[in-house]
Amino acid sequence: MTNFSTIYKLSVVALTFLLVEASTSSCPVLECWFVQEKAGRGGGLTGATTQEKSLLHIQTDSHDAASQKTPTDINPERVYFVTDPAATLCHHSLNPPRGSVKKPQCEINPFLPQPSSLTWVASLTDSALSPIYLDAEWFSSAFQGLNEQLGISTITRAPTGSKEHNVILSVTSKTLSVKSRLGEPVLLDCGFWADPSSPLSGSGFAVEWRYQFRGNGRVVVAYDGKRDRLADTQEEGAMLDFDGLHKKGNASLILQEAKVRHSGTYICSVYLPYLLAQV
Ligand SMILES: *[C@@H]1O[C@H](CO)[C@@H](O)[C@H](O)[C@H]1NC(C)=O
Repeated sequence: MTNFSTIYKLSVVALTFLLVEASTSSCPVLECWFVQEKAGRGGGLTGATTQEKSLLHIQTDSHDAASQKTPTDINPERVYFVTDPAATLCHHSLNPPRGSVKKPQCEINPFLPQPSSLTWVASLTDSALSPIYLDAEWFSSAFQGLNEQLGISTITRAPTGSKEHNVILSVTSKTLSVKSRLGEPVLLDCGFWADPSSPLSGSGFAVEWRYQFRGNGRVVVAYDGKRDRLADTQEEGAMLDFDGLHKKGNASLILQEAKVRHSGTYICSVYLPYLLAQV
């Protein structure tokens, strides 16, 4: 019996240790470029941008905000705490071992929530919504993990004046680069997560896949998830997995047969009312 309880205690200790490890070491502190447009004289935008170093402390729970030292070359005004309950930003490719030369890439931009007039998105904002929630500080951020393992784009919100952001929408892709033989099916990965506690989630989403090549673009698939309707722009042989899309946020695009004309860049955009994130 004593032996048993010792083993039991040891395993509890081990488990606690694992949990502590997981919550303290798996979410990164990321150095990012904070990029915004320069306000011109008279309040207009000049088109020029400013770029400042910033620091993001990623956490899965707003209670574990750690007080850590900020590198001296970073303005304390540009240090943020980002709570990501889905832990998307805690992926190992964004958290290289200390001292490693290669760093994940990251850029933050101020974001202005606004309704979209695209036909497959417009239904999301057709009901009146409390503008108070939108009246906050919004950022759009783009991340790229080491070795092109993962691309993530997030929309985060902080109460005005606060440095504590919450991820409201995140979109990811594991296929930043894809090669395929002609005639074979191709999967372009895309997935999204929306904060269930946000008033913007649960009132529908929309997904759009766009193809871009040498300045030309076209919509491959566009889907209004609120009205369960596909736009008629749909390209032949391009499909979404609607079940996975509604149940798990799996917005991956399947091209049934790779053709020469398919080569190029594909952008997966996910819309919530007033929000948009794309990879
Ligand atoms: C997303 O859906 C595609 C097509 O059904 C599937 O091949 C892929 O494994 C799914 N991805 C995830 C993460 O479930």
